[in-house]
Amino acid sequence: MNILGIETSCDETGIAIYNTEKQLIISEQLFSQASKHAQYGGVVPELASRDHLIKIIPLIKLTLEEAKLDFDDLNAIAYTAGPGLRGPLLIGASMAKSLAFSLKIPSIGIHHMEAHLLINLLEDPAPKFPFLTLLISGGHCLLINSKALGSYEIVGQTIDDAVGEAFDKVSKLLDLGYPGGPLIEQLAASGDSSAFNFPRPMANKDNLDFSFSGLKTSVFYALKEIDILTQEIKANIAASFQEAVAETLLIKSKKALEKTKQNELVIGGGVASNKYIRNRLINGLKGSQIYFPPLERCTDNGAMVAFAGSFYINKNNHKKNDLVLPKWPLSELKNG
Ligand code: KG4
Ligand code: ZN
Repeated sequence: MNILGIETSCDETGIAIYNTEKQLIISEQLFSQASKHAQYGGVVPELASRDHLIKIIPLIKLTLEEAKLDFDDLNAIAYTAGPGLRGPLLIGASMAKSLAFSLKIPSIGIHHMEAHLLINLLEDPAPKFPFLTLLISGGHCLLINSKALGSYEIVGQTIDDAVGEAFDKVSKLLDLGYPGGPLIEQLAASGDSSAFNFPRPMANKDNLDFSFSGLKTSVFYALKEIDILTQEIKANIAASFQEAVAETLLIKSKKALEKTKQNELVIGGGVASNKYIRNRLINGLKGSQIYFPPLERCTDNGAMVAFAGSFYINKNNHKKNDLVLPKWPLSELKNG
C-alpha cells in the first residue's frame, strides 16, 4: 500500500510516500519557505498559503516520479488537518480531499503533533507504547503520557511561549535571522555556556509546566547592559540561553519520567534537531531509554504525515467533520 503524505501546517510544504509492505518512506520532497518569511522575522500566514498553493502540485508530481509511481498507484492520502495555520492547512487538506475523491481512495486527516511523535516508531529500535513524550517545536512545548495510539494525556505544557518560539525571539534580539533555532545553535558552538546566568524557568516548581517568555526577557535585559555587542559576547549569550533551555527541558523530563513511572522518553519537533539539547538530554537521563527521530525528520516534513497515515487507515481519529482543525488539542484525539 502506498500512502501519500501532505504537510502544510506552517511554512514547509512536505510531501512523501510511505510504502506499508516495505515499511519505508520511498520518496519525499520538502520545500521550505523560511527565506521568504525571514525578512518579516516570522511566518506571514497569507504568504505561506500562496507559496503552498504554488508548490504543492509540482512537489506531488516530483515525489511520484522519484518513486516511479503513478497517481493510480496511490492507496490513501494523509494530510495534516491541524493544529496549524488555517490558510496553509486548507491548501493541503483541499488538495488531499480532491485528489482522494478523484482517485476513489480514502483521505486521512492527521494530527501534526501526533505525526511528530509517531515518526520515532519508524526507527530501529522503535519505542513501544506506553512511553513519555517531549514535543518541542515552534508552536508547542508538551510533556505527554503517551498511553496508546491516539490516547495522550498532557502532563506538562508551556504557560506562555513555546520553546522554538523562544529560540526565534532570542535570535531576533541578537539580530541573527529566522528561523532562530539553527542560527543560535551554530553561534552557540563557539560560545561559553556559563558566561551568563540565565534563569531555568519554573525548574523548582513541583508541576511539569514550562515558561519561556521570562527567559527571553532575561536575554533582553542582559543585552541592555552591554555597550559594545561583540561577536564573542553574542556567542556567549547564545550558548548560555541554549544551556538554560536544555537544562530546563532536562529537569522537567526527569520529573515527568518519575511522575508517570515511564522509562522511555520519545522526543520530537523542530527543536529536537538541536544537537546540544539532544546530548544534554541523553547524558542527563542515562537510566532511561531516549528516542529521537533523525535530524531532518524533527522539523516539519511530509514523511511523518505519510507514516502517521498508516496507523489510521479505515479508522477515524477525530470527532468532528471539519476539513481542518487549527486548534486541535492532542488530548482530543479520538482513540483509533
Ligand atoms: O516542528 P517545527 O518544524 O514546526 C512546528 O511545528 O512548529 O519546529 C520549528 C521550530 C522553530 O521555532 C525553529 O527555530 C526550531 O523549531 N528549530 C530549532 C532548531 N531547528 C529548528 N531550535 C533549536 N535548535 C535547532 N537546531
Ligand atoms: Zn511541527
